[in-house]
Amino acid sequence: MRDLLKTENVKKKFGGVIALNGVSASVKKRTLTMIIGPNGSGKTTLINVISGIYKPDEGKVEYNGLDITGKPPHEIYKMGIVRTFQIPLLFTNLTVLENLLVAARINEGERFLNAIFKTKWLKREEELVEKAYRILELLNLDHLWNQPVFKLSGGQMKLIEIGRALMSNPRLVLMDEPIAGVNPKLAHEIFDHIVQLKNKLSLSFLIVEHRLDVALRYVNYVYAMHRGKIVAEGKPEEVLENPEVSKAYLGE
Ligand SMILES: Nc1ncnc2c1ncn2[C@@H]1O[C@H](COP(=O)(O)OP(=O)(O)OP(=O)(O)O)[C@@H](O)[C@H]1O
Ligand SMILES: [Mg+2]
Repeated sequence: MRDLLKTENVKKKFGGVIALNGVSASVKKRTLTMIIGPNGSGKTTLINVISGIYKPDEGKVEYNGLDITGKPPHEIYKMGIVRTFQIPLLFTNLTVLENLLVAARINEGERFLNAIFKTKWLKREEELVEKAYRILELLNLDHLWNQPVFKLSGGQMKLIEIGRALMSNPRLVLMDEPIAGVNPKLAHEIFDHIVQLKNKLSLSFLIVEHRLDVALRYVNYVYAMHRGKIVAEGKPEEVLENPEVSKAYLGE
């Protein structure tokens, strides 16, 4: 199977802190790949380098066979890589549907502003509403379409954030701790949704997560990071059994 994403020997320093010290990892098409590791091991920095927020000091990021190293975030986004954040960034006073539409309007940018013909604009608007509604159906959130987001639970907000990311027709979704602070039942539901989305929309996911108890049963491949390096990789059960991993988690 071909790699959709590949990093090669990626290095990133912040002053004297070496956040990434030569990370080579890949995400195969239509898989859930997970990055685990203790606090400060470089997981979020890796996501930030892939999504273009930080330029790596060294190394290469390849997406779908193209070198995207150091490209700005909006270009990377346009190429089909979206991300969600550790804390959902939603417009809490807007409805669920509106939150998805806002994302779409931002994506449309100029095209939307320059729409000269009103009918064309309305048609587009209709299409977007339909698309947003279909995404909400996939996430079982369609019955909540008209609710303001502040009324929803933390777990539902995480799902809406995923839904919003899907409005741009991505191929790769980067997620930073999608189930942080979510109760176990909902955490399993979120991962169930992620697996379904992967299958139905042929998506690939790169997921940073601390909660191994929930996440490991859903993922295809795991990278374990420690101090900016990958210390183990493989199928979830292989990685968990790796002594380097338990050492990193339990402290040396
Ligand atoms: N913008 C920044 N400026 C300075 N140091 C940073 C910056 N971002 C990350 N770091 C440092 O780089 C190291 C890796 O941080 P990172 O956030 O990638 O870790 P993490 O694995 O995501 O941790 P956590 O599990 O706590 O989210 C840490 O020592 C952190 O303090
Ligand atoms: Mg982090």
